[in-house]
Order: sequence, then C-alpha cells, then structure tokens
Amino acid sequence: MSYQIVIQPSGHVIQVESGETILEAALREGFSLPYGCRNGSCGVCKGRIIQGKVDYGLYNEDTLSKEDVEVGNALFCCASPLTDLVIECHEISATKDIEIKTVPCRVEKLELVAPDVMIIFLRLPATQRLQFLAGQYIDILLKDGKRRSFSIANAPHDDEFLQLHARNYPGGAFTEHVFTTMKVKDMLRFRGPLGSFFLRDASEDVPIIFLASGTGFAPIKSILEHVFFHEKKRGSKRKMILYWGARAKVDLYLNDLPQHWQREHDNFKYIPVLSEPLESDHWNGRTGLVHQAVMHDLSDLSAYQVYACGTPVMVKAAYHDFTTQCNLPKDAFFSDVFTPSTSKA
Ligand SMILES: Cc1cc2nc3c(=O)[nH]c(=O)nc-3n(C[C@H](O)[C@H](O)[C@H](O)COP(=O)(O)OP(=O)(O)OC[C@H]3O[C@@H](n4cnc5c(N)ncnc54)[C@H](O)[C@@H]3O)c2cc1C
Ligand code: FES
Repeated sequence: MSYQIVIQPSGHVIQVESGETILEAALREGFSLPYGCRNGSCGVCKGRIIQGKVDYGLYNEDTLSKEDVEVGNALFCCASPLTDLVIECHEISATKDIEIKTVPCRVEKLELVAPDVMIIFLRLPATQRLQFLAGQYIDILLKDGKRRSFSIANAPHDDEFLQLHARNYPGGAFTEHVFTTMKVKDMLRFRGPLGSFFLRDASEDVPIIFLASGTGFAPIKSILEHVFFHEKKRGSKRKMILYWGARAKVDLYLNDLPQHWQREHDNFKYIPVLSEPLESDHWNGRTGLVHQAVMHDLSDLSAYQVYACGTPVMVKAAYHDFTTQCNLPKDAFFSDVFTPSTSKA
C-alpha cells in the first residue's frame, strides 16, 4: 500500500512505497532530509509528525524518548507511514543535485597511523570522480550484502584518492579485514556520497567549534581543508576552533596536521584533549572529556555553530550540555555519530 506525505514547511509531496521508511522514500524521490546513521541511533533524522500515524520501527530509546513520541516526534529513518502524513522537518538543499552512486575502487595505500587506526587510500577508475560535500561519508559494500559507513577524510578539491580513517573493532566484519588481510590493489565497492554532515552557510560573524573524538577527526579534516582552500580564494576568515579528544597521545593520530593549520591560519585554533594520558606521553596539555573542555573555555555558545563527530556518547553529551547549559541554539548543532553500521543491505 502506498501513502502520500506532505513535508512542511516546504510543501513537497512524496509517495511512500510499501515497506519504505519516510527517509528512504524522501531520498528516492530526490528530497534531502537530514540523516546520519540510518539505524535509529544518532537522532539526526528526528522530525515531527503533524498529522497521521506511523509505525515507529526499531530504534534506540535513548535517541527517541517517550516524551519525544508524546510530542509527535519520530525518527524518519525508522518510521513508516500507516496513513497519509504531514511531517515537519528542514530539508537540505545542498545535496539535492549530487548523484549517489555505486563505485568500484582499488586500495591504493594503507597507512597505519596509530595501533588501531588505519588510513585507507582508495583509487577510483580513471574515468570517474566522486562528487561530494566535505564532511559526507560512503558505505563500503561488503560481499555478503552488509554495508559499513566511513567518512571521507579528504577535501573535494583534493580527490585523486579517497581517504578513510578506519578504527579497528576486533571481530568487525570490515575493519578486522582492513587490519589483517587487506592488501594494496584489492578491489572494493562503495555507495555514496551520503549524509548531511557538511558546513552550513552562515555569516562570517558566526564562529565554529569543531568537536571530534577519535576517528571523528576524518570528516572534520575534510571540512577544514575545504574551508582553508576556499578561504584563499574568497578571503573570508570565519573563526574556527577544533577540539580533538582522544584517550592517549598516540590516538591523536594526525596531531601534527591541525598544529600545522594553526600556524598557517590565524583564524584557526587547535585544542587537543586527552582523557587518559599515559605517563610516557609527558602530556601537559588539556585533559578530561573533550566537550567539557569547550564548556570550560566558552560558557556562552549562543553565537556559535557546533559540528561534532565521533562516538555516540561524546556527541550526545555535547548536544545535551551545550544546549541546556551553554545557550547553544538546537539548530546550530550538527553531527555525525559513529554508531556501529547497520547490517541491512
Ligand atoms: C555516518 C557514519 C560514518 C562513520 N564514519 C566512520 C569513520 O570515518 N571512521 C571510523 O572508524 N568509523 C566510522 N563509522 C563507524 C563505523 O561505520 C562502524 O564502527 C562500523 O560498524 C565498523 O564496521 P566493522 O565491520 O569493522 O564492525 P562491525 O562488524 O559493525 O562490529 C564489530 C563489533 O564492534 C562493535 N562496534 C563496531 N563499530 C562500533 C562503534 N563505532 N562503536 C562501538 N562499537 C562498535 C560492534 O558493536 C560489534 O560488536 C561511521 C559510522 C557512521 C554511521
Ligand atoms: S537516527 Fe535516523 S539517521 Fe540516525
């Protein structure tokens, strides 16, 4: 049975086929709703059902609370209509013209940059380039139909190779292969670009905080390299601060790079924060939880935009504490949450 959905405030109308979620139908029809994990864990796709009924699907109750449901919210990546609907959410115009495609590629280089972080460089066929927005991700398509999401760490202008920063999860269907048997010249297939974690337009007066934990640095690297590249051309200089959180020094696997950016760009500041520094690190920098370091430095975030990426626990704590204790407007927080990928094909 097919249902019709009206998206407010745009007034766009989509048809949902049987078995489709609201998000799947919207993306199939070319409308970009915000999303991240597509498995009910990150909350980026949360919106309001103004009229009609939905099956909420399977989701993480930390992401959609009972109170959320009471006020009409749903996760559009999980919910399917049971009637025609009117929904409310902010569509993103920036991705609508970018084709999502399935692309074969070859492993060009593997670089172990920390004991559990591998940088994978992928070469696309000579006739193909991937158009993407800095901050987006791809889904690696495994042979058994599983997909694994990885953010693109290079900027769009620097696209000779696609760069992924993969953290090793012992027993992980994909990452264990990366750390044990993957070789240069291996063939892979991926689908992308995906996701809505990219820089939103704002005036020069709106400073940005980038917040990364672990390999959450990857899409932020892409966004920052994109900004630095265009700054040269446009002369604009938005103030930007990167807080990169990790356990020990070795986990700041490209620490030299943001240090280099800080020397080169007077509108950029880098603050590494370690939660469990080793004695051998001889660390005299910041310690503790990375989002708390931001709150320590900036008690009022009402004039900022925040882009946060990495572990669910860090992103959720940052969203909660920044919006409840530091006056950050809810619509000024953008995130990609590195949840375990869904196994759905
Ligand atoms: C939008 C998006 C972008 C992402 N980008 C990146 C990226 O750039 N770099 C990166 O390293 N990861 C990224 N991730 C996370 C990555 O997709 C998952 O960690 C993925 O499940 C790893 O696949 P795997 O086959 O190795 O492990 P799986 O087979 O999926 O899992 C193996 C075991 O490890 C656990 N596990 C796997 N991933 C996680 C996790 N993230 N947190 C806690 N436990 C986990 C599982 O629960 C399971 O027990 C991203 C996730 C999303 C949703
Ligand atoms: S919860 Fe829907 S995209 Fe993450």
